[in-house]
Amino acid sequence: MLCFIILFTNLFVYTYATCPSGQIPSKFADPPVCYSFEKAKANWFAAMENCTEKGGNLVSFHSMFENMFVNGEAGNFFTDSSTSDFWIGGIYNTISPGKWSWIDNSTFDFFDWDKGQPQNTTDSVCASAIMNGAKWQSEDCFIDKPFVCEIKQLLSTSPTTTTTTTTTKKPNICPDSWIYYNSSNFCYKAFQMYKTCNACDWSVQAWIGLSRIAGNFQWTDGTPFDYSSWVHGRPVSDSRYQCVESWIGQTCDGDGWDLGPTEWANQNCDVKILNFICKKGRIS
Ligand SMILES: *[C@@H]1O[C@H](CO)[C@@H](O)[C@H](O)[C@H]1NC(C)=O
Ligand SMILES: *[C@@H]1O[C@H](CO)[C@@H](O)[C@H](O)[C@H]1NC(C)=O
Ligand SMILES: *[C@@H]1O[C@H](CO)[C@@H](O)[C@H](O)[C@H]1NC(C)=O
Ligand SMILES: *[C@@H]1O[C@H](CO)[C@@H](O)[C@H](O)[C@H]1NC(C)=O
Repeated sequence: MLCFIILFTNLFVYTYATCPSGQIPSKFADPPVCYSFEKAKANWFAAMENCTEKGGNLVSFHSMFENMFVNGEAGNFFTDSSTSDFWIGGIYNTISPGKWSWIDNSTFDFFDWDKGQPQNTTDSVCASAIMNGAKWQSEDCFIDKPFVCEIKQLLSTSPTTTTTTTTTKKPNICPDSWIYYNSSNFCYKAFQMYKTCNACDWSVQAWIGLSRIAGNFQWTDGTPFDYSSWVHGRPVSDSRYQCVESWIGQTCDGDGWDLGPTEWANQNCDVKILNFICKKGRIS
């Protein structure tokens, strides 16, 4: 009787956006995409062709969340010790000089260049993402690197009657909707209460677990303060500015280059910021 009910209800299960096996569904991309992490190294153009053959493109990024998500996943796929970065879909457009663009033609409305990047040289016009820290750099397009493709998710509404076997699911490392980063062995979640529609905004800030106590910056979880990502001119010594925010998107700034996502500023703790990033231990 029980088996009958299961089979019966299954007829009405509709499939939703899914990714082919081996591909990872995006968490933050809009519209959603599937990511394919390609370990076999190729130059940027061959990588692009490989993605095109799958019906996609080299990956483009439109928010810090997406950038960090893909970078975190890349750490699980590109484990070869000689790999420090991978190709993404950014390319310097020689037709309108000084402009970087995404090969999928989406708006270049977010960037996360490393310090001193992109280099202004004619032989470094393709973008790669650095595994350690998710920053980007401009590189010689003819170097072979692993790469990440993005493929549009297909929305299917056909009823599925085939799968009646229970698949043994790998135990989740993190609670649902939290993201695991292998390099730190912790789970993270960004709580974004404020969403803007503009390409840039001055409110793309999120609180992080850092504050100044008795003159020293300290992490709330007690880990050593051995890394920082201050934006130019910060921290200020003003004693009211004891809490720390990180930029999580593109700020509306004229020259742009020294105000990037992931950069921090100390801030007055009373300021109302509606976004914050949490970290917690893995569950298995
Ligand atoms: C391209 O894609 C195929 C399958 O999608 C894969 O097997 C192959 O290794 C990829 N990479 C290169 C560099 O050809
Ligand atoms: C991007 O736009 C150009 C020019 O309109 C077009 O030739 C190209 O096929 C487009 N690429 C993609 C990936 O849509
Ligand atoms: C890059 O270099 C060229 C020539 O040296 C110069 O004209 C251009 O303004 C530079 N672009 C940037 C973004 O610095
Ligand atoms: C994390 O990475 C290490 C090696 O870098 C690997 O042995 C381990 O299986 C990875 N853990 C997960 C959960 O992916």
